Amino acid sequence: LNKKEVTITFVKSNGDRIKTTGKIGDSLLDVVVNNNIDLDGFGACEGTLTCSTCHLIFKPEDFEALPCKACDEELDMLDLAYDLSDTSRLGCQIILNEKMDGLEVKVPATINDARS
Ligand code: FES
Repeated sequence: LNKKEVTITFVKSNGDRIKTTGKIGDSLLDVVVNNNIDLDGFGACEGTLTCSTCHLIFKPEDFEALPCKACDEELDMLDLAYDLSDTSRLGCQIILNEKMDGLEVKVPATINDARS
Protein backbone atom coordinates (compact mmCIF):
# COMPACT_ATOMS: atom_id res chain seq x y z
CA LEU A 1 0.00 0.00 0.00
CA ASN A 2 1.35 3.36 -1.06
CA LYS A 3 1.62 5.85 1.83
CA LYS A 4 -0.69 8.21 0.05
CA GLU A 5 -3.45 5.63 -0.10
CA VAL A 6 -6.01 4.43 2.40
CA THR A 7 -8.06 1.26 2.54
CA ILE A 8 -11.81 1.70 2.28
CA THR A 9 -14.49 -0.98 2.57
CA PHE A 10 -17.92 -0.58 1.04
CA VAL A 11 -20.57 -2.79 2.62
CA LYS A 12 -23.55 -3.47 0.39
CA SER A 13 -27.04 -4.03 1.77
CA ASN A 14 -26.79 -7.74 0.91
CA GLY A 15 -23.74 -7.99 3.15
CA ASP A 16 -21.16 -8.04 0.36
CA ARG A 17 -17.96 -6.33 1.43
CA ILE A 18 -15.89 -4.61 -1.21
CA LYS A 19 -12.43 -3.71 0.05
CA THR A 20 -10.51 -1.25 -2.04
CA THR A 21 -8.05 1.61 -1.84
CA GLY A 22 -8.32 5.32 -2.50
CA LYS A 23 -5.83 8.13 -2.83
CA ILE A 24 -5.71 10.84 -0.21
CA GLY A 25 -7.41 13.89 -1.69
CA ASP A 26 -9.85 11.82 -3.74
CA SER A 27 -13.53 11.71 -2.85
CA LEU A 28 -15.39 8.51 -1.99
CA LEU A 29 -17.10 8.90 -5.34
CA ASP A 30 -13.67 8.89 -7.03
CA VAL A 31 -12.86 5.68 -5.16
CA VAL A 32 -15.96 3.98 -6.57
CA VAL A 33 -15.33 5.23 -10.10
CA ASN A 34 -11.56 4.64 -10.19
CA ASN A 35 -11.90 1.09 -8.91
CA ASN A 36 -14.91 0.24 -11.10
CA ILE A 37 -16.88 -0.75 -8.04
CA ASP A 38 -20.18 -2.18 -9.09
CA LEU A 39 -22.80 -0.06 -7.31
CA ASP A 40 -25.74 0.38 -9.61
CA GLY A 41 -26.56 4.05 -10.28
CA PHE A 42 -23.99 5.36 -7.81
CA GLY A 43 -22.62 8.82 -8.55
CA ALA A 44 -25.03 9.64 -11.35
CA CYS A 45 -24.39 13.39 -11.26
CA GLU A 46 -20.61 12.93 -11.10
CA GLY A 47 -20.25 14.88 -7.90
CA THR A 48 -22.19 18.00 -8.80
CA LEU A 49 -24.55 17.67 -5.81
CA THR A 50 -27.69 17.16 -7.83
CA CYS A 51 -28.51 13.47 -7.48
CA SER A 52 -28.01 11.90 -3.99
CA THR A 53 -27.09 8.53 -5.54
CA CYS A 54 -23.75 8.67 -3.74
CA HIS A 55 -25.48 8.40 -0.34
CA LEU A 56 -23.35 6.46 2.14
CA ILE A 57 -23.91 5.61 5.79
CA PHE A 58 -21.01 6.01 8.22
CA LYS A 59 -20.38 4.49 11.60
CA PRO A 60 -21.12 7.11 14.27
CA GLU A 61 -17.46 7.47 15.29
CA ASP A 62 -16.35 7.85 11.68
CA PHE A 63 -19.14 10.31 10.99
CA GLU A 64 -17.99 12.48 13.93
CA ALA A 65 -14.41 12.40 12.67
CA LEU A 66 -15.21 13.60 9.15
CA PRO A 67 -13.25 16.75 8.34
CA CYS A 68 -16.24 18.86 7.38
CA LYS A 69 -19.93 19.03 8.06
CA ALA A 70 -22.45 18.82 5.23
CA CYS A 71 -23.16 22.15 3.54
CA ASP A 72 -26.76 23.25 2.86
CA GLU A 73 -26.71 21.90 -0.70
CA GLU A 74 -25.59 18.50 0.54
CA LEU A 75 -28.26 18.47 3.26
CA ASP A 76 -30.94 19.33 0.69
CA MET A 77 -29.82 16.41 -1.46
CA LEU A 78 -29.62 14.04 1.50
CA ASP A 79 -33.25 14.86 2.26
CA LEU A 80 -34.11 13.16 -1.04
CA ALA A 81 -32.11 10.00 -0.35
CA TYR A 82 -33.82 6.78 0.73
CA ASP A 83 -32.81 5.09 3.99
CA LEU A 84 -31.50 8.37 5.35
CA SER A 85 -29.74 7.97 8.71
CA ASP A 86 -28.21 10.28 11.31
CA THR A 87 -24.80 9.39 9.95
CA SER A 88 -25.53 9.74 6.24
CA ARG A 89 -23.36 11.77 3.90
CA LEU A 90 -22.92 12.10 0.18
CA GLY A 91 -19.82 10.23 -0.95
CA CYS A 92 -18.88 12.82 -3.55
CA GLN A 93 -18.42 15.36 -0.75
CA ILE A 94 -16.14 13.25 1.42
CA ILE A 95 -12.47 13.76 0.68
CA LEU A 96 -10.08 11.09 1.88
CA ASN A 97 -7.43 11.91 4.45
CA GLU A 98 -4.83 9.70 6.15
CA LYS A 99 -7.04 9.21 9.21
CA MET A 100 -9.64 7.40 7.10
CA ASP A 101 -7.50 4.32 6.56
CA GLY A 102 -9.67 1.30 7.30
CA LEU A 103 -12.90 3.24 6.90
CA GLU A 104 -16.03 1.15 6.41
CA VAL A 105 -19.13 2.69 4.85
CA LYS A 106 -22.55 1.21 4.21
CA VAL A 107 -24.19 1.52 0.84
CA PRO A 108 -27.96 1.92 1.30
CA ALA A 109 -30.27 -0.65 -0.27
CA THR A 110 -31.99 1.84 -2.52
CA ILE A 111 -30.18 4.41 -4.59
CA ASN A 112 -32.44 7.33 -5.43
CA ASP A 113 -31.63 9.62 -8.31
CA ALA A 114 -33.18 12.92 -7.20
CA ARG A 115 -33.14 14.09 -10.80
CA SER A 116 -35.70 11.54 -11.95
FE1 FES B 1 -24.51 13.19 -7.22
FE2 FES B 1 -22.87 13.00 -5.12
S1 FES B 1 -22.66 12.09 -7.05
S2 FES B 1 -24.70 14.16 -5.29
